[in-house]
Amino acid sequence: MEKREMLYEGKAKRVYATEDPELLIVSYKDDATAFNGLKKGTIAGKGVINNEMSNRLMQRLEKAGVPTHFVEELSERETLVKRVQIVPLEVIIRNIAAGSFSKRYGVEEGVVFSQPTIEFSYKNDELGDPLLNTSHALALGLATQEEIDTIRRLAFQTNDLLRAFWSSCGVTLVDFKLEFGRLSDGTVILADEISPDTCRLWDAATGEKLDKDRFRRDLGGVEDAYAEVMRRLMEHEDC
Ligand code: TMP
Ligand code: ASP
Repeated sequence: MEKREMLYEGKAKRVYATEDPELLIVSYKDDATAFNGLKKGTIAGKGVINNEMSNRLMQRLEKAGVPTHFVEELSERETLVKRVQIVPLEVIIRNIAAGSFSKRYGVEEGVVFSQPTIEFSYKNDELGDPLLNTSHALALGLATQEEIDTIRRLAFQTNDLLRAFWSSCGVTLVDFKLEFGRLSDGTVILADEISPDTCRLWDAATGEKLDKDRFRRDLGGVEDAYAEVMRRLMEHEDC
């Protein structure tokens, strides 16, 4: 499949058209940002890891019944995906308190929830991705009630599947962000990426952070953490 014009450049990826109007090529960059782009940097090799990790996890999800945009990995950094119209919601599932949840509600990082939580943010950089509830999403016309119901169901299903898989790799899935999109016929599928940029992944034995928090919080060892979590995934791919 041939890459045509660039349609969009985000903080971590570029998206290209192809000769097929229903397919796009995503190209992963090493660029990293945090705090809505205020902090900028590079994580060497990140694009290669995020591309491969996201593709493997999406194939795993697809097999288990979660529809995704994944079509085919084209190269180390490039993947063919189904074209979708992104639903402008950041869907966050949390199993353990961390990050903005801990800050907002005054809960220590590491407190394990009795059941997973879901929250939505309005995907809008200018507004700083504000938290919203489903009633707000409906008022803003961001999605229909039926779409929100589907998104919620697929997000929790994804959590069950990923949590079990990461656990088999000795990694605790603390929380993660998903984005969904609509195919041209309106079907809602999982899109964007699933990677250490978009998940909190802690070593199950030591609690060591193996994700982008090392970059956000200047903890050092960012590249090593990405490589380590990828190594764990590859080792346990077949279990
Ligand atoms: P938070 O605790 O900062 O709200 O982050 C929750 C999860 O969402 C965490 O795994 C990181 C991920 N995330 C993104 O993928 N993109 C973002 O812009 C933010 C703020 C968080
Ligand atoms: N998406 C955030 C940013 O805009 C990065 C993050 O915290 O993951 O820079």
